[in-house]
Amino acid sequence: MKIFIDSAQIEEIKALEDLGVISGITTNPTLASVTGKKFKDLVSEIFTTLSKDRIINLEVIATDYDTILIQGRALAALDERVVVKIPCIPEGLKACKTLSEEGIRVNITLVFSPMQALLSANAGAYFVSPFVGRLDDIAMDGMETVSEIVKIYRTYDYKTQVLFASVRSVEHIRLAALAGVDIVTSPYKLIMEMYKHPLTDTGLTQFLEDWNNAKEEFIV
Ligand code: G3P
Repeated sequence: MKIFIDSAQIEEIKALEDLGVISGITTNPTLASVTGKKFKDLVSEIFTTLSKDRIINLEVIATDYDTILIQGRALAALDERVVVKIPCIPEGLKACKTLSEEGIRVNITLVFSPMQALLSANAGAYFVSPFVGRLDDIAMDGMETVSEIVKIYRTYDYKTQVLFASVRSVEHIRLAALAGVDIVTSPYKLIMEMYKHPLTDTGLTQFLEDWNNAKEEFIV
C-alpha cells in the first residue's frame, strides 16, 4: 500500500520526501488556502520539492463541466506528475470521462458511498477518494464503505485505485492496509507516528548503553 501526504505545507512535504516513505501528495482547496501562498507559487514549490516519480494531486475549483475541463487540462499541462482532483458530482463525472479519454488522470474526490465509487470507476477515474474520517465524524462506518468499494472494484476488476482519504488515526492506516486499499493519504503527524514504538526506543537505548559500557571501537 502506497502512502501519500495530505498536505500543502512545503516543510512537511519536504521532510517526508527526504525520508523516502511517500509516493505522492494530495492537496485540496482548504489545505492550499491555509498556506497563505498564491496557488501558482505553491504549486511550483511542490513541483520542485518532490522527485520525478511522485504523484501530485491538485484539485479543480469548478462545478460545471466546461470549467472543470478547462481547469483540469490546465493543471495536467503543468507537470506530468499531476492527477486532477474533481468532485463527485454529475458534471464532475462527465468531465472525468472526457479527461480520462484524453489521457489525463483523474482522482474523483469527496466520495462517501460505494455507489459514488462505482460511478467514478465507470467514468474512468484513475483514483477514487473515499473520505473515511468524515463518515466516522457523522457516526457512519467509513471503514465499511471503503471495504465495500475495494470488494466491488476487485469483483469486477476495475482498474481505478482506492485512495483512502480523511485519515484520523494510525489505526485507520492499519485498517486501510488490511482492507486492501491501494493508497492512504495521511496528514504529516500521523505518518510520523507510524514510526513510533516504545520497544524500539527502549531497545535502542539499551543497545547503545551496552555498547558504550563495553568501550568497544566501531569499524569506522
Ligand atoms: O484531502 C482530502 C481529505 O483527506 C480531507 O481530510 O481531514 O479534511 O476530512 P479531512
